Amino acid sequence: MQRHLISAADLTRDDAVLILDTAEEMARVADRPIKKLPTLRGRTIVNLFFEDSTRTRISFEAAEKRLSADVINFSAKGSSVSKGESLKDTAQTLEAMGVDAVVIRHGASGAPYRLANSGWIDAAVINAGDGTHQHPTQALLDAFTMRRRLVGRDAGLGQDLAGKRITIVGDVLHSRVARSNVDLLHTLGAEVTLVAPPTLLPVGIETWPCEVSYDLDSTLPKCDAVMMLRVQRERMNAAFFPTEREYSRRYGLDGDRMAKLPEHAIVMHPGPMVRGMEITAEVADSGRCTAIEQVANGVSIRMAVLYLLLGGNEPAVTHTRPTGSEEK
Ligand code: NCD
Repeated sequence: MQRHLISAADLTRDDAVLILDTAEEMARVADRPIKKLPTLRGRTIVNLFFEDSTRTRISFEAAEKRLSADVINFSAKGSSVSKGESLKDTAQTLEAMGVDAVVIRHGASGAPYRLANSGWIDAAVINAGDGTHQHPTQALLDAFTMRRRLVGRDAGLGQDLAGKRITIVGDVLHSRVARSNVDLLHTLGAEVTLVAPPTLLPVGIETWPCEVSYDLDSTLPKCDAVMMLRVQRERMNAAFFPTEREYSRRYGLDGDRMAKLPEHAIVMHPGPMVRGMEITAEVADSGRCTAIEQVANGVSIRMAVLYLLLGGNEPAVTHTRPTGSEEK
């Protein structure tokens, strides 16, 4: 494992499988009455959020607290960033306080890379989403959810997602979730198809390790998981499709479309969902939609990442071996 987690593309298959397996161990902690491990006692982690977030911020904080780290939350709104302070000065302020890891979300693609490679700080840097670039822990929690549902919780240990067919639908152009997922799913051996209107696909898409289609209906019967993306209006500076109704009609997932999926296939969404746009309430609330499960899995994944980057030589969770099983 590298010292920082900046991009899903930096992970080897073995790194990714190790994180998924460690997350399975961490998930067991969530089933205990006291959901806490002493692993990161005495370590300080700063959550540095320059962009809005609900799930990712809360999930990192829960993960850090479950590992007993000291947690400092920083949001750009209400800080000296509003007074014009630069990322460098903010980072050096944190360094002076002796932080061990920085979890950063930033509107500018490349900000976490800059922070990790500038020499401004010594701490480990974890990218919690940068512009339209990367969101590696989201891709990991999505892969974890897929492995559990499509391979099995115990059967999945040590396994990747070889041969699984995953369709990602919607605003690929503005989506760091799509980019991270394409990278990680490819590393894990899955076959990815992106479905979007041509205006919402980035230039150079033909170099990505995936297929592209404009027709959702013909793709659905052939996939094991379909991941719906939010239309990211806050990143749009032009009209990318005629009307919302037209978008939903062609690229939204409703009950009739969901019925075209194979019986075992799951519907995923990273959240926040815009009900009525990319997904109907009927689909979002159905038993096939894993959006809430993805949030719960996010805590286990982030515990695993923090543990492996900051701690990790000891086993994550100590198991008591049954007597007689000692190695001779
Ligand atoms: C995503 C993000 O922020 O990139 N959400 C998340 O982290 N769960 C996707 C989005 O905002 O649509």
